[in-house]
Amino acid sequence: MTQDTTKRPLYVGLAGMGTVGGGLVQLLKKDAEMIRRRSGREIVLRKVLVRNLSADRAALLPEGCVLTGNPADLTDDPDIDVVVELIGGTGLAKELILKALANGKHVVTANKALLAEDSKELFDLARSKKCLMRYEGSVAGAIPIVETLGGPLAGNRILSLHGILNGTSNYILSEMTTRNMDFATALSQAQELGYAEADPTLDIDGFDTAHKLILLIRLAFGLDYPFASMPVKGIRGMDSRDIAMAREFGYRIKLVAIAKLHDGDSKDARMEAGVFPMLVHHSLLLARVGGVYNAVRLEGEASGPLFLHGRGAGALPTASVVLSDLLSIAREDRPNNTGFAGDEILPTAIVPPEDWRSEFYVRLMVHDEPGVLRDMAGCMADEGISLAQVIQKEKEGNVVQLVFMTHEASAESMSNALHRVAEKGLLQAEPVYYRILQ
Ligand code: HSE
Repeated sequence: MTQDTTKRPLYVGLAGMGTVGGGLVQLLKKDAEMIRRRSGREIVLRKVLVRNLSADRAALLPEGCVLTGNPADLTDDPDIDVVVELIGGTGLAKELILKALANGKHVVTANKALLAEDSKELFDLARSKKCLMRYEGSVAGAIPIVETLGGPLAGNRILSLHGILNGTSNYILSEMTTRNMDFATALSQAQELGYAEADPTLDIDGFDTAHKLILLIRLAFGLDYPFASMPVKGIRGMDSRDIAMAREFGYRIKLVAIAKLHDGDSKDARMEAGVFPMLVHHSLLLARVGGVYNAVRLEGEASGPLFLHGRGAGALPTASVVLSDLLSIAREDRPNNTGFAGDEILPTAIVPPEDWRSEFYVRLMVHDEPGVLRDMAGCMADEGISLAQVIQKEKEGNVVQLVFMTHEASAESMSNALHRVAEKGLLQAEPVYYRILQ
């Protein structure tokens, strides 16, 4: 087995310090130690390409990293191993990626518009230069769908795919549904929260979803679906009357991306694909995807259905998968069978179960007599346990079920409190108690 022992850092040039770029800078600083343990080397941010070279931005950068306004400072620097493109759009971003690849640099991008509309040249060049081009951040924010389709699901024929792929649209529809908010207010909130594209028409007219769907179709089925041929309708002008009527019938309106293969995967196979608002029955998981969350439901021939759910937009969620692309590149050619580099699996310091804290459900069988509830509550109070809800149920002779929920407490104090209750002779059967998962 070849073991790469070099500890040389992976040197990175970042283009764009907007929402996701800013998130990546934060994570690279904050999680430097985790990154080193996972990849066995440091990931060092050398240069950041921005339009506005203000001192405020420079102050956010890690030590030794400089701002530049010149793309060639990234693409032509022989010490930079990877260019991360987070500028978006199809102009400068494409030039930058082509130049980086031509100079033998790996590329990480989250540019779904470019990858969906005009990526052949990029992928061809990356292949001929033996460079990696990774783009987990381009689809569904924090959900690792790109890697999942190309990796763990590669042994499975994918039959169909349904997705909620635009956080802004899903946020707007959710706000309109649950808060009766109007379309324009919900859109401006999504923009303030950093979910929307620089050009929000991409979000609300469905094209951002369509870009992502084109990438998923390529990854899931190995098929090239031309963007210009895709039927796309967004949520612009969505009328709250339709949202309310759909609810009455038991449905939620969602902006759904669909891709289904007809006629197997023979050479006659045809793809049904498109993006449009749909009524989704409330019992389906897709209907429960709320706010900025995204989800992808896949039907695999061997695996059966799979459902991935997570934050679809926002600085840190998307930056986290851009960082994972950098980690994959940093680990390239290094055996990494545990998720951490060689000897970076550390002994665990264990929290004893009695110290775990949670809320509890407790059922006691007690006599239905004056003072029982007071004594039981006293035992709880003596251990610092506060009761949240109490119900008394079903008398069986003189015995009743006394059921209560507590506020957060340690398992040790709960066990001690129940011993106290038992010692007072209050219990007519063994107590039952479970932790509550909130
Ligand atoms: N504007 C996009 C969205 C951001 O709302 O999902 C992530 O691609």
